[in-house]
Amino acid sequence: MEAYHTNLGNHDTSVREAATHDYVRFWDGEARHLHWFEPWSQTLSWNPPFARWFVGGTTNMSYNALDVHQETRSDKPAIYWEGEDGSTRTITYGEMYRMVCRLANALEGLGVKKGDRVTLYMPMVPELIASMLACARIGAVHTVVFSGFSSSSLADRINDSGSGVLITADVGYRRGGSIDLARTAKEALDRTPSVRHTVVLNRAGPAPHGWIPWSDMMEHPDSHRAAAVSSTDPLFILYTSGTTGKPKGVLHGTGGYMTHVHSTFGWAFDIRDGDVYFCTADVGWVTGHSYVAYGPLLCGATQIMYEGVPDYPDASRLWKIIERYGATILYTTPTALRMLIKYGDKIPRSHDLSTLRLLGSVGEPINPEVWRWYHDTIGGGRCPVIDTWWQTETGGMLISALPGIESLPLKPGSGTLPIPGVQMEVVDEEGTPAAPDTKGYLTIRNPWPGVMLTLWGDDQKYRDTYWSRFPGRYYPGDYAKVDGDGYLWLLGRADDILKVSGHRIGTAELESCLVSHEAVAESAVVGVPDSIRGEGIVAFVVLREGIQDANIGQALREMVAGQIGPVARPDAVYPVPALPKTRSGKIMRRLLRSMVTGGSTGDTTTMEDSSVLDGIRDSIGGRSG
Ligand code: WTA
Repeated sequence: MEAYHTNLGNHDTSVREAATHDYVRFWDGEARHLHWFEPWSQTLSWNPPFARWFVGGTTNMSYNALDVHQETRSDKPAIYWEGEDGSTRTITYGEMYRMVCRLANALEGLGVKKGDRVTLYMPMVPELIASMLACARIGAVHTVVFSGFSSSSLADRINDSGSGVLITADVGYRRGGSIDLARTAKEALDRTPSVRHTVVLNRAGPAPHGWIPWSDMMEHPDSHRAAAVSSTDPLFILYTSGTTGKPKGVLHGTGGYMTHVHSTFGWAFDIRDGDVYFCTADVGWVTGHSYVAYGPLLCGATQIMYEGVPDYPDASRLWKIIERYGATILYTTPTALRMLIKYGDKIPRSHDLSTLRLLGSVGEPINPEVWRWYHDTIGGGRCPVIDTWWQTETGGMLISALPGIESLPLKPGSGTLPIPGVQMEVVDEEGTPAAPDTKGYLTIRNPWPGVMLTLWGDDQKYRDTYWSRFPGRYYPGDYAKVDGDGYLWLLGRADDILKVSGHRIGTAELESCLVSHEAVAESAVVGVPDSIRGEGIVAFVVLREGIQDANIGQALREMVAGQIGPVARPDAVYPVPALPKTRSGKIMRRLLRSMVTGGSTGDTTTMEDSSVLDGIRDSIGGRSG
């Protein structure tokens, strides 16, 4: 007997069969569930590594998210919003439609046209989703910057995208306090010459001088004709950390992305009209784009949007929200679960979670014991837990159990199978298929609709980063293995990208920030296991000659938090006499990591100077055991 199962009574074998038989034709059929102004002439144009889906077709994301629901669902809640202080709002499909139309008209009045970039720097409020949809409505390209990022991160993204308009809020609310987003935005605007207009959702007071208050935008007419956008036109840029010092602008298109998100949202969450879906991701990250802003609206679903942290004012917050709104589906991160587990079972058990019927996890590997707790304690043993693997670059889920179409045995800790129409293979260094249960590199052999168009302004880097390590295949940068049943197990990043609380942070970005400090000559950053956040950040720095400063570690931690954002603040910064390097000058991070975790330093024969390790050991003071 199988212990865990998706078992929701759905079994549509035709989906997987059709997809395996001819994936291009299969996705052609999926795209037909959406509204198109003009049909496409070519389902897939595949000029490796550039995939263009539904070529020649025109459509509009905002039309598919809103207009198509107006006749049947205009009074249906699209969003139940809850603030951290307990205040609530309900926004129906009709209200959302009118807000987006007003905003689209207003943006056009500001001169925003198809292809123009608009940066959004906002907290978790419905107006952020409305702003994304308004951009999509006129064919403008939105670039959402997570509201926890600093002014320099914001300025860099505005400048790289060349945004002409910034939409922000005066404040965000978090952990009982307010965050002065307007101040951060103002600092950024000092060095962003492209921005002609700043719109502000002024929640706490009047709009700052020279900025357009939200109420002005809402004075525009509440109907608007959605632009016919080419399927292959860009929808958004989302910056994400890579292996270089500068974040990459992942560019997503319209028709392919829309189709991918629409299909996967329905398959994974088995979405039905009465569902109340709750995803805890911030819209500033890709999960919030695909499965908060777009997926639920495309499917006409009702969702809960919560502005706040899961443990404020206490660890019962998420369970209270589920109880209050009768949530049926919860989609959250292993980090949030690990944090809540430590408060024990009594808190969730004292809430009515009986409305839940499906649970999802995203962003990092989920430990089997956390999976079981999620299944048993939160799901009461009745709800399938789906572990969804994907990336900013993939647009939507690529590995997940799909309770909406398939009945499948589940294994705690495994993402199960690739979604229909996607062929994956785990390979060794040379690109030959790895034996079952052997750790290798995850690769993808064919394009899928949600695949990014390219990196904003850098086709070559797109090619080099994702399609060169294993020629002809997409390489996501993850380790994985396949078991005897063909199930995939994700085993973490194979490159220098960290996952801290599910947030993606590149070590190169942290290092380039650290060496920008005048006292720092060299730096190396490593991820170390953290029982709650998955990974923690530890930095090693070599100070410039003659610099003696007992507080430098603390100062550098704060500098990183200030320059990139609090999510990137290192847990520790150790000044060391030198970094361990190979004879060819490569930093041996593996050694640095084991110095902190107390693991064996293993083979050190390739080191240029092995006495360096003693110096580091002394500097970090006995932590290396
Ligand atoms: C990791 C987040 C294991 C992985 C949607 C990937 C996961 C990176 C999972 C992308 C999962 C995401 N199991 N690892 N279910 N989901 N990852 O761009 O390393 O923020 O490459 O997208 O997160 O992070 P990103």
